[in-house]
Amino acid sequence: MSIVRVTDADSGEFSNALKELSIYFARLSEEKGRPVTFNLLTYGCQLNEADSEKLSGMLTAMGLTKSEDTGNELAPADVIVMNTCSVRENADQHLFGNLGVFKTAKKKDPDMLIAVCGCMMKVPANVEKIRKSYPFVDMVFDSQQIHKFPLFLKEALGSRKQVVEVGDTDYIADDSFFPIDRQRQFRALVPIMYGCDNFCSYCIVPYARGRERSRDFDKIKAELEELAAIGYKEVMLLGQNVNSYGKGNPDGKKFVDVLAAASDCGFSRVRYMSSHPKDLSDEVIELMGERPNIEKHLHLAMQSGSDSVLKRMNRPYTISDFYRIADLFREKVADGSLTTDIIVGFPGETDVEFEDTLKAVEYCKFDAAFTFQYSVRPGTAAEKLPGRVPQEVVTKRFARLLEIQNRLAAESNQKKVGKTHEVLIEGISKQGEGTYTGRTISNHLVNFTIPEEIMPCGGGSLEGRLALVRVDRARPYSVDGVMERLINE
Ligand code: SAM
Ligand code: SF4
Ligand code: F3S
Repeated sequence: MSIVRVTDADSGEFSNALKELSIYFARLSEEKGRPVTFNLLTYGCQLNEADSEKLSGMLTAMGLTKSEDTGNELAPADVIVMNTCSVRENADQHLFGNLGVFKTAKKKDPDMLIAVCGCMMKVPANVEKIRKSYPFVDMVFDSQQIHKFPLFLKEALGSRKQVVEVGDTDYIADDSFFPIDRQRQFRALVPIMYGCDNFCSYCIVPYARGRERSRDFDKIKAELEELAAIGYKEVMLLGQNVNSYGKGNPDGKKFVDVLAAASDCGFSRVRYMSSHPKDLSDEVIELMGERPNIEKHLHLAMQSGSDSVLKRMNRPYTISDFYRIADLFREKVADGSLTTDIIVGFPGETDVEFEDTLKAVEYCKFDAAFTFQYSVRPGTAAEKLPGRVPQEVVTKRFARLLEIQNRLAAESNQKKVGKTHEVLIEGISKQGEGTYTGRTISNHLVNFTIPEEIMPCGGGSLEGRLALVRVDRARPYSVDGVMERLINE
């Protein structure tokens, strides 16, 4: 498919709409005698988070401020945007419940504008349901239309009719097109590609996000250089399968080139997600071992340890292929952590096939894993597969998998005890005042205290600073420690 980049003409229309809306909202704010607010709810993966940073950037550029009622996810605001996920059934259940709450809020304040966007809006049944049963929703669009958000807002304000725009587009608005309101002071999310062509038989993402499109290498490089220049410490390169980066681009650049370019910018940490075992090259693993600022963490979804299940899942690798990569990673990347995704109860999964998954988990000794119970997604190939696994069997298998994986995660954390680690500080820990949280270069979560005598004076933000932390205790999903000193950069 040829990709038409969003043109300068489109960008003129976009910036004119932003300007007009900022004048409109400034007037509204004057009339109301208060700031005009927005509440943006984000579900799903980091790609949705990155899209929400653009939506938030556009709303901020129009002069809106984030609603301050941060304790209440469903706080009313002048503009509500719900950026949805459809990856599993429970991810889409949230939306309709939450819309009920906003319906009541809109009855009190009929001027409220409500937008529903993101991956769920690529499923026609969801759009139909909103059209029929939720007419108070003003705008419906999917993630491929995000660059038109100001135009939708203008149209909704003008017509007061439901604006719906969904469907595959063959063009791409580059990230450089948008104002981006980055949510973290130290970590920048940088999508390098959009969509997915893999069509794993259980997965909705290729339908929700469309065909794979890779951003221009030069544009990514320019964005990375700018982020480094303004002081971002960590960059996270994003895509559903970053290792197939570059497919169809004329310059022949591959993911390893993007990773090296990010490392060259001098960030303290370069991370990436996600990799597919069929596309991960040995070169990438070697680079991870060689460059000190590339995270020593590989997230590689195994999904199942059984060749027959992998085949039914349309995952074109065998478990021996997966072991080869796991072994190479352990050999080349010292003290690295290997994490994965696993689905339990895929259609037709037998006891023997499930036992193969447990064997594979023991072999790979995953440092952590996201474990999922199979959830049927309408329109995917697996929807039509026979052999639904009874829920009680899935529950038992899931519990057995968790028991093994929790032990492995605890062992992985235990290996960190008694040593000093370099930690990138992410902020105050959930454990409470006086405890900070951060991650090692292997992505292990560390909660730590700072002795009073070395507490930096002025109490300035420690977010994004590097520190040496002595780890003294392992927990199931994290480790505890005490800071020895900050590292001067
Ligand atoms: N592109 C990533 C990859 O292949 O590594 C995965 C992205 S997907 C958003 C995250 C995980 O959700 C998948 O790896 C899979 O384990 C899980 N998942 C996707 N569809 C699912 C389904 N229908 N039921 C259960 N788990 C699912
Ligand atoms: Fe879904 Fe497979 Fe694409 Fe990952 S690689 S997003 S699991 S289709
Ligand atoms: Fe969900 Fe879409 Fe991500 S379906 S997991 S938000 S790509």
